[in-house]
Amino acid sequence: MSSRIAVFGAGYAGLVTGACFAELGHTVVVRDVVPDKVSALQAGTVPFYEPGLDELLERNGERLRFTLDAADAVEGAGFVFICVDTPPTYAGDADLSRVWTVIEELPPAAERTILVMKSTVPVGTGEKVRSALDARGLDSVGYVSNPEFLAEGTAVRDFLEPDRVVVGAFEEADGEAVEGLHAGLDAPMVRTDVASAEMIKLASNAFLGTRISFINEIANVCELVGADVNDVAKGMGLDQRIGRRYLRPGIGFGGSCFPKDISFLKLLAGNSGYHFQLLNSVIEVNELQKRRVVGKLQKHLDSLRGKTVALLGLAFKANTDDLREAPSIVLASRLLAEGADVRAWDPVADASQVLKGVSFHDSVLEAVSGADAAVIVTEWEELRSLASAEIREAMRNPLIIDGRNLLDPKEVRAAGFTYEGIGRPTSPLDMLPEIDEPAPLSEPSPAREE
Ligand code: UGA
Repeated sequence: MSSRIAVFGAGYAGLVTGACFAELGHTVVVRDVVPDKVSALQAGTVPFYEPGLDELLERNGERLRFTLDAADAVEGAGFVFICVDTPPTYAGDADLSRVWTVIEELPPAAERTILVMKSTVPVGTGEKVRSALDARGLDSVGYVSNPEFLAEGTAVRDFLEPDRVVVGAFEEADGEAVEGLHAGLDAPMVRTDVASAEMIKLASNAFLGTRISFINEIANVCELVGADVNDVAKGMGLDQRIGRRYLRPGIGFGGSCFPKDISFLKLLAGNSGYHFQLLNSVIEVNELQKRRVVGKLQKHLDSLRGKTVALLGLAFKANTDDLREAPSIVLASRLLAEGADVRAWDPVADASQVLKGVSFHDSVLEAVSGADAAVIVTEWEELRSLASAEIREAMRNPLIIDGRNLLDPKEVRAAGFTYEGIGRPTSPLDMLPEIDEPAPLSEPSPAREE
C-alpha cells in the first residue's frame, strides 16, 4: 500500500530515505530549510556525492517533491520522518535544536500522523518528545524510533538491502504502520520499545568503532613483533563468532557518525551515572592512530621541516566527498606544525576551506611531484596503481606510507619504492639508500645513520 511521507532534512540520511521510500512506491515530500539546496534538488542536482542517488531521484521524480515549506510537506502526510542533523554541542552531547524545531512546527493534523525519528538521538529523546506532543494536545500524533544504518558511499544499497530494520514504538499499531512502509524489503524486523531502538543505534556505531580501534591496536603491536595485521584480521574474521567486517586497520575512523555517536554514548552513560571506561579507550586509540603516520614519516625522513609530503585522499573514506572528522585534517595540521610542505589530492572532496596552508592538486602525479613521501590517506580506487615508474620518477624520494594497506607491499617494493603500511612487516630493503644498487645488507646503510 502506498503512503504519503514527509521527510524533514535533505542531508545524506533524509535524501536517501526519501528517494528509497519513493522507490518502494510511496509519495514523498522532502523539506529542507536551506533555499539553495531545495532549488538545486528541484532542478535535479544532488548537493553532495553519493553513488546511485541521482539516478534514484531521477527515476522516482514523479513521486518525489522538494519544498521549503513545513506545512506543505506535512499536508496529508501519514508519516513525518525527522532526518535532521544532531551535531555535537560544545560539551559533546547531541544538539537536538533542529529536532525540536521540526516538532514545534508540526501543525495539528485531522488524521493520525506518525512522527518517525531517523536522526541519531540520545536514549530518552522519544520519551521527551512524547511528553512535548502530549503537552501540546497532539495525542493524535504517534511516535516511532526507526534509526538509520546508512553508511555514506553505500547508503542506497544499505537502505534497500538492510541487515535489519529497527522499529521502536510506544503504540503497537504505530510500529506496525512503520513496518508496513518497508514492505518489499527482504530484511528482519526488530520491533522494540522506543528506548531500546535508540540504544541499538548508538551501541551499533560504538561497537563498530570499538572493533576498528581494536584492530588498529593489534596492527600497532604487529609492527613491533613482526606479524602482518592483514593476515591476522583474516584469520580472526573467518571465525564466524568474530566476522570479517570492520576489521580493516588504518589511520583511524572519521566521519560525522562514529566519533560523534561514541562520544554521545559515553556522555549519556556519564550523565546517567555510569563511567563507560571502554569507550574512553576507543576514542583515545583513534586519536593516536591518526597521528601515527607522522611518526612513520619521521622514521624515514628524520625532521619533517622543509620536507614535502603528498596526502593522497582527504575524504574520511572512499566514495564520499565528506570531510567531517576526516583523519586527513588532523594529519595535515600535524604535518604543517612539524614544518612540512603539504600537498594534497582528492578526486571529489574539496578541502580548500578546511585546510589552510595546504596546496591542492588536480592529479596524483601533480600532487606527488617533488615529494619526499606520499601518504595514502583515503582508499580511493585510483590509488591502487600508485606504484608506477611515472610516480617514482616524479617524487624526490620514492617513499609510500600506505595508511589503508591498499597496496601490495611486494609489488610496491619491486617497483622501486620504500613502502610502509599499517601493521605490516617492514622490509630491511626499505632502509637502503639506492634501489638499483642495494648496499650489502651486512653494511650499515647511510640512510639508517642519518
Ligand atoms: C556509519 C555506519 O556504518 C552506518 O551504519 C551508520 O548509519 C552511520 O555511521 C550513521 O550513524 O549515520 P559512515 O560514517 O558513513 O557510516 O561510515 P563507515 O563506512 O561505517 O566508516 C566509518 C569510519 O570507519 C571511516 O573513517 C572508515 O574509513 C573507518 N573504517 C571502517 C575503518 O577504519 N576500518 C573498517 O574496517 C571500517
